[in-house]
Amino acid sequence: MVIVINPNRSKGTISPNLYGHFSEHLGRCIYGGLWVGEDSPIPNERGLRKDVVSALREIHIPVLRWPGGCFADTYHWMDGVGPVSQRKTIVNTNWGGVTEDNRFGTHEFLELCRQLDCQPYISGNVGSGTVYEFSNWVEYCNMPGKSPMADLRRANGREEPWNVKYWGIGNEAWGCGGLMRPEFYSDLCRQYATYLRNYSEDHHIYKIASGANVDDYNWTETVAERAGFAVDALSLHYYTLPHPETWHHKGPALGFTREEYYSVLFQTLRMDELIAEHTRRLRKHDKKHRLGLVVDEWGTWYDVEPGTNPGFLYQQNTMRDALVAGINLNIFNNHADSVVMANIAQTVNVLQAMVLTEGPAMVLTPSYHVFKMYREHQGARQLETYAAASMLTCGECQVPNVHVSASEAEDGTVLLTAVNLSEERAESAEVILPGLRADAQLEGTVLAGDPWAHNTFAAPETVQPKRLEGLQAGDGRFTVTLPACSVSAIRIGRD
Ligand code: AHR
Repeated sequence: MVIVINPNRSKGTISPNLYGHFSEHLGRCIYGGLWVGEDSPIPNERGLRKDVVSALREIHIPVLRWPGGCFADTYHWMDGVGPVSQRKTIVNTNWGGVTEDNRFGTHEFLELCRQLDCQPYISGNVGSGTVYEFSNWVEYCNMPGKSPMADLRRANGREEPWNVKYWGIGNEAWGCGGLMRPEFYSDLCRQYATYLRNYSEDHHIYKIASGANVDDYNWTETVAERAGFAVDALSLHYYTLPHPETWHHKGPALGFTREEYYSVLFQTLRMDELIAEHTRRLRKHDKKHRLGLVVDEWGTWYDVEPGTNPGFLYQQNTMRDALVAGINLNIFNNHADSVVMANIAQTVNVLQAMVLTEGPAMVLTPSYHVFKMYREHQGARQLETYAAASMLTCGECQVPNVHVSASEAEDGTVLLTAVNLSEERAESAEVILPGLRADAQLEGTVLAGDPWAHNTFAAPETVQPKRLEGLQAGDGRFTVTLPACSVSAIRIGRD
């Protein structure tokens, strides 16, 4: 097959924020996964697990969304600040009905972002909160001078404001965030947006309206038309399920069939069409293309691992998930002119996680490795690619055999990322890149295995990136073999 990289056509800069993550008070994502507390025997810095933080630093997380998800619309931020012993204990009604004692709150989250060196993105409570409560949260985080909330922040041990830029106005307002109609939400969104203030000329906040589920284009149009002028972006949630028609029987993360392998790849490719159509609907009401699209929840969603709490959404992660990660990141890169942020769900121990933990043990998932292999796309200039793919058919699902994206860094280095979707056939590709010299430096990394291959606590290195051998450069082209069921990243030097 042939892959063409066109260095003369680009959708613009790939925002680093397309490589964002999401961490909710759900199952063992925060508690046990990221936060163990200062008294834990698990090595930690200010309560945050050192092993997990240091692994996550390697993938260069640009932005982290918190505290939910559905949890956000039941969360009252004041419960989570001040002396820990005096914090309220509540019930996490969305996720397993477990006790939430608010040990991890605003200060702890912003400390996590400091340790990860990433931007915070906070989702405020619109479903069961008040405008007053939400506007106070922004004041608490961002007010530099004297004010009731800035004084409270100082009394709680933080002198300087954090200048949190990204604020979500509710979450899934059409569902767990209040079962609202788009017309009602639009009015509410305008009201909230009015009182979420800037507290410094140098740090303007960025307001993200709660957006559509999957293909609810009416939601996007209504909110864009009625409330678009009051916000900076609308969100979109799309999860990849093997059987989207049977929500209560999603299929297993591990013992899946060949049909379920292809159905997941088929379903995940839908992201491309969803982004294109939501963007088209947004732009009908935003002629100046001011509004961004924020895909702030995406990833695979399967049945939980047998024997685990159904409310904790703990699932294993295989090469199938690695392919899903590679395909979606390619799609986001190729929509760099409309998608301004994306956040995979969720960072640790929940859904399509980067990291799994069990007590003091930690294991990196295949999805983690894909984020690491793709990290140089962050901030690079997207390049148009054309892949003359053939189609693979399994039952009613048809998918292309190869899926790609490319970008060019400031120093001219090109990064090509390619997913081979076939579970059985390696693919030889001739990659055409005009101007490439025969003595160019080519360096490749590949993550490959059968679709079921995964890492466990007993065998944490079953799926590991390896050097991609056999890259052969010629004038204006090179050849590469993409193994079956693999994700490859090829750096092409052009000095
Ligand atoms: O990520 C899990 C849940 O999925 C989130 O809480 C919610 O927003 C979505 O339905």
